[in-house]
Amino acid sequence: MNIALVTGASSGFGQAICRKLIADGYKVIGAARRSDKLQKLADQLGDNFLPLTFDVTKKDAVETILLQLPKEFQPIDILINNAGLALGLEPAYEANYNDWETMIQTNIIGLIHLTHQILPSMVERNYGYIINLGSVAGTYAYKGGNVYGASKAFVKQFSANLRTDLLGKRIRVTNIEPGLCGGTEFSNIRFHGNDEQAATVYKDVDYVTPEDIANTVSWLVNTPNHFNVNSIEIMPVAQASAGLSVCKQV
Ligand SMILES: NC(=O)c1ccc[n+]([C@@H]2O[C@H](COP(=O)([O-])OP(=O)(O)OC[C@H]3O[C@@H](n4cnc5c(N)ncnc54)[C@H](OP(=O)(O)O)[C@@H]3O)[C@@H](O)[C@H]2O)c1
Repeated sequence: MNIALVTGASSGFGQAICRKLIADGYKVIGAARRSDKLQKLADQLGDNFLPLTFDVTKKDAVETILLQLPKEFQPIDILINNAGLALGLEPAYEANYNDWETMIQTNIIGLIHLTHQILPSMVERNYGYIINLGSVAGTYAYKGGNVYGASKAFVKQFSANLRTDLLGKRIRVTNIEPGLCGGTEFSNIRFHGNDEQAATVYKDVDYVTPEDIANTVSWLVNTPNHFNVNSIEIMPVAQASAGLSVCKQV
């Protein structure tokens, strides 16, 4: 395996994964909407990195761009569906409907666009690895997690169902399910650019870093081909599921 496509490469996990896979000797296509950020990364990573500007929610545009990949960046052996976002932390009854739609369009529809386009060529070659970025939010409910958590529950079940469809083929699938990770734009985006509010999420917490996630990806892709990690849940030591709560006044 030597060519990886990483979505969400302009920031956070995606950027760290690109750096790590390049250091490991892979050819990496890094995709996102902000071409200036991708270009900066390309300037640092050299010829084995191909910046690709696209919006994962735009199916036709993604298809066209991927069909025009330079020969030396084909075929894609590793697809890392990392592009995603959370918007808002309000309870469902106060949430912004557009935020809900954007999360579904990006975290679910975007992820299936890429998978639907790239998986057949992996099957044809009987070779490949799909790594999805889920979240602990897909397993544990938390206040304000409503549609974000539900979108990651989709990613979790879709990953498991892919494994089932791919039984008998040499194609691996892993859902990485991180908990609280800092050093990314995740909370800045969630709080619509309120950086002060975003900073409070990480204050005094020894969080998981993008490099921790990149090292996990590096480990996964370097495990032997007969070996499949179905899912991997990662939290900082400072985080745990805190159990069910009861409100006595209701
Ligand atoms: N940080 C955490 O605590 C955490 C925990 C669990 C799971 N995750 C998941 O991990 C993944 C990466 O998150 P992160 O923390 O690294 O966040 P981040 O720093 O905000 O990065 C998100 C990336 O996704 C890209 N993106 C967003 N919408 C896109 C679209 N429509 N088309 C193409 N690219 C798009 C962004 O690039 P552009 O804006 O340039 O397009 C950016 O590169 C997400 O799926 C997130 O849900 C994060």
